[in-house]
Amino acid sequence: MRLTRTSDLWWKNAVVYCLDVETYQDGNGDGIGDFKGLTQRIDHLVRLGVTCVWLMPFYPTRERDDGYDITDFYGVDPRLGTLGDFTEFVRTAKDRGIRVIADLVVNHTSEEHPWFRDARSSRDSTYRDWYVWQDEPPKDGPEGVVFPDVEDSLWEYDEGSGQYYLHRFYKQQPDLNVANPEVRDEIARVMGFWTELGLSGFRVDAVPFLLETDGQDDAGGLPDPHDYLADLRAFLGRRNGESVLLGEVNLPYGDLARFFGDPGSDRGDELTMCFDFVGMQQMYLSMAREDAGPLAAALRERPAAPRDAHWATFVRNHDELTLDKLSEDERAEVFASFGPDKEMQLYDRGLRRRLPPMVGGDRRRVELAYSLLFTLPGTPVLFYGEEIGMGENLAAEGRQAVRTPMQWTPEEGAGFSTADPTAFPNPMVEGAFGPRKVNVYEQSRDPASLLSRIRLFVERYREAPELAWGEYHLADTGERSVLAHVSRTGDGAVLALHNFSGRQVTARLRLPEAGPGGKLTDLLDDGHAGLTVPDDGLLPVELPAYGYRWLRVGTTADDPERVATG
Ligand code: GLC
Ligand code: CA
Repeated sequence: MRLTRTSDLWWKNAVVYCLDVETYQDGNGDGIGDFKGLTQRIDHLVRLGVTCVWLMPFYPTRERDDGYDITDFYGVDPRLGTLGDFTEFVRTAKDRGIRVIADLVVNHTSEEHPWFRDARSSRDSTYRDWYVWQDEPPKDGPEGVVFPDVEDSLWEYDEGSGQYYLHRFYKQQPDLNVANPEVRDEIARVMGFWTELGLSGFRVDAVPFLLETDGQDDAGGLPDPHDYLADLRAFLGRRNGESVLLGEVNLPYGDLARFFGDPGSDRGDELTMCFDFVGMQQMYLSMAREDAGPLAAALRERPAAPRDAHWATFVRNHDELTLDKLSEDERAEVFASFGPDKEMQLYDRGLRRRLPPMVGGDRRRVELAYSLLFTLPGTPVLFYGEEIGMGENLAAEGRQAVRTPMQWTPEEGAGFSTADPTAFPNPMVEGAFGPRKVNVYEQSRDPASLLSRIRLFVERYREAPELAWGEYHLADTGERSVLAHVSRTGDGAVLALHNFSGRQVTARLRLPEAGPGGKLTDLLDDGHAGLTVPDDGLLPVELPAYGYRWLRVGTTADDPERVATG
């Protein structure tokens, strides 16, 4: 058994799919998606090749922040079903070889959570110290309001008890005090509970905020937040060895690496995966400029994840497409290309649009982005609806624009629900990207559809261990618009080329993996013949406008999967 490449490290070549139960499939006709409906749709995920579903928060909530304000960490929102329905879903997914992880939102609770209600009832409450209180908001306390359209401070005065409490997000989301050992134990208990019910880990919400102890009374000496994260990982490992922590850490690379774990340990003992927010943003800048440079620079700068850890890559997530790590000028460029109207932007830092409308429905540019997703080093994470090219509905509030119901069929209600659409949690997409034009039913039957293309990407990615497990390097191509990267393992190497520009180019590259006479085989079914490196060792590869190619160094006989099985 090759220890570096076993299913024990399943996340390394996983295909993660994020969905919100509320908007995926209604199973009882009330207009709200639910676990029963989701379970009925499992075979769509199977056919797509998804190996891990990430459930957005499904817990009881006040819906101030679309489920990210929780009133009970041990329950299922009654609108979405029961614990029984949840368990049936997890079991059905497992039956199809799909693991399930869920959002762990423990930086804060809802203000309606019984803990906070108790905590604010009196300064003597047993729960008082579960939250963060101050007589005066500290001047040098944490900075940076996450929702600047609504909040102007991180501290809210509580009339009843006469102190201010900390809230990183909306004031209805008071921050828990993770310096309190009781809170720490409770968070572990929450993780243990869902693990017992079959989850294979968590997407950890807002990790840097969860760990922060700024603005807190440090008279007793505050514990090291990273020790705590390592403790949680160890706890989870003891309960279920295959569990992962997929962390939301939107920080510059330099600060982020620490969240994988102690730099002294090459395996990583904190987060199993971290989203690559920087790489994602640089990809959009590259697309806007039609220049591979920004993405290439990010890939060069990106720290290597520890051996057993991995980066998680994405084209968009469930939030606004944040561009906060770009400079002001760069952000303005991306806005100008992909979201020029004010109503397409959110908090001056992001876009509340999906990719296909951003590029005017240009299939080539949409494919380019997803081809990158599946070839760039890191575990690909899809947001529901991306596989069919759904758009957004700007009439929906804020981030809800991209959280519209899944489009299954062309009919009214899109197969999502038979209820009157006014009962839906969010309005459907309308127009060119709405269900009549964009739906699973029709694309499933059309070999030329985006869905068929994405299925092919998933299949090839899963077949090419180099992409998931390999070391990578960038190759010089002589063309600014082309990104060429080679991923290689001990037994194979895959070269991927992406042309960001709208004109045809010929990339010329020299590969340490393939000298004169060396062969390369096309991995996608595009009817291309293989390539042979000419005598001068400089391999020319033609790429159409926004074109891409996946090539394995060698002939089909060199396919590592064949070597492994044959
Ligand atoms: C994370 C989530 C976001 C949520 C916030 C507060 O950033 O991605 O959707 O609003 O945390 O929980
Ligand atoms: Ca329902």
